[in-house]
Amino acid sequence: MRPASLFALFLSTITTNAATPAYSIVEPTQGAVVSIGSATVIEWNTTGSSSAKVSFFLETTTNSTDLFTIASNISNSGSISWSPPSSITTGTDYIVVLQPSSSDDDSTEYKSDAFTISASNASTTYYPAEGEEVKTGETTIITWKVDSNITNVSIYLMEGSGTSDLKNITTITTDIGNSGDVACVLSSSVASGDDYKFAIVDTKDPSSVKYSDTFTVVNDSSDKASSGGPSGTTTSSSSKSTSSSGSGETETSTSTSGASRAWSLVGWMAALLVVPLLC
Ligand SMILES: *[C@@H]1O[C@H](CO)[C@@H](O)[C@H](O)[C@H]1NC(C)=O
Ligand SMILES: *[C@@H]1O[C@H](CO)[C@@H](O)[C@H](O)[C@H]1NC(C)=O
Ligand SMILES: *[C@@H]1O[C@H](CO)[C@@H](O)[C@H](O)[C@H]1NC(C)=O
Ligand SMILES: *[C@@H]1O[C@H](CO)[C@@H](O)[C@H](O)[C@H]1NC(C)=O
Ligand SMILES: *[C@@H]1O[C@H](CO)[C@@H](O)[C@H](O)[C@H]1NC(C)=O
Ligand SMILES: *[C@@H]1O[C@H](CO)[C@@H](O)[C@H](O)[C@H]1NC(C)=O
Ligand SMILES: *[C@@H]1O[C@H](CO)[C@@H](O)[C@H](O)[C@H]1NC(C)=O
Ligand SMILES: *[C@@H]1O[C@H](CO)[C@@H](O)[C@H](O)[C@H]1NC(C)=O
Repeated sequence: MRPASLFALFLSTITTNAATPAYSIVEPTQGAVVSIGSATVIEWNTTGSSSAKVSFFLETTTNSTDLFTIASNISNSGSISWSPPSSITTGTDYIVVLQPSSSDDDSTEYKSDAFTISASNASTTYYPAEGEEVKTGETTIITWKVDSNITNVSIYLMEGSGTSDLKNITTITTDIGNSGDVACVLSSSVASGDDYKFAIVDTKDPSSVKYSDTFTVVNDSSDKASSGGPSGTTTSSSSKSTSSSGSGETETSTSTSGASRAWSLVGWMAALLVVPLLC
């Protein structure tokens, strides 16, 4: 067993030495491998009330800086699903830290065993895939391959065949971190058609454009979703805020760190949690 792992065990022992700990993290297990972009389950045993609120953070065994806020003040349900975003550096000494809400009489932090976060599988499919149907008014997760040289991207909806004769239909979002995924909702101003693509453009170098596969838009929305602004899209802002987002490497600290990020990225990432990433 590696020293780092022993250290993690040691930590989880001292923080849970009461007769029956109020919480104990069951998954990820010691040595588990979690892939970036793949959903994994975080599961915990609890003797606390189901109405209690808990938050989850990502740390390493040797550095108790909160590298990423996995979930803030969610209900004590016993498990959640989480997909590590591509902003997280791969490594073998990650732990999940459970923190009961300060309103409960419990300031202890509960730590998982050490697990590995690995690069996303080479076989990862990007979304939408060729021929996939995307419905207006529904949350769609766009995923693309991250080139680490590109820090920020803008995304446009394009229509047409090939890549030379494309019509620029609408702006999905501009100047967001190049995280590899974002959620959006196409508004009903987008007509049905089978020759759409997303263009993912390097903000610094607009001549560097990547295209998604060609997909189909189905506009049969009963228009219950708010219709788009001038841009013709709305970005989802789910209120099920079971996750917040940040760039794993650079975030330092607190539970509110996610708020310093771009406007609706938090909402987008929340949508990532409630919608399977790669359907
Ligand atoms: C979680 O709780 C179940 C049922 O109470 C118990 O069987 C199991 O050993 C517990 N697991 C851990 C890791 O505490
Ligand atoms: C990625 O690979 C791991 C281990 O090989 C596997 O368990 C997991 O299901 C894969 N995930 C996807 C999305 O293919
Ligand atoms: C812990 O991680 C943070 C964020 O990556 C970094 O700024 C800090 O220097 C690290 N501290 C130690 C003691 O390694
Ligand atoms: C990334 O940038 C480095 C240095 O500017 C360059 O050598 C490398 O070829 C670039 N990689 C890609 C994939 O563009
Ligand atoms: C699409 O149109 C917007 C606004 O008119 C423009 O800024 C953007 O560069 C265009 N995108 C592409 C890929 O041509
Ligand atoms: C890149 O995107 C992030 C997050 O949206 C934003 O805060 C930052 O200002 C952008 N960086 C540049 C160089 O535009
Ligand atoms: C999309 O469908 C809605 C609801 O049926 C309709 O009101 C709207 O005009 C359609 N939009 C386009 C561009 O066809
Ligand atoms: C959770 O809620 C409590 C009380 O409302 C607040 O003090 C705390 O900062 C919140 N934690 C997070 C991680 O948002």
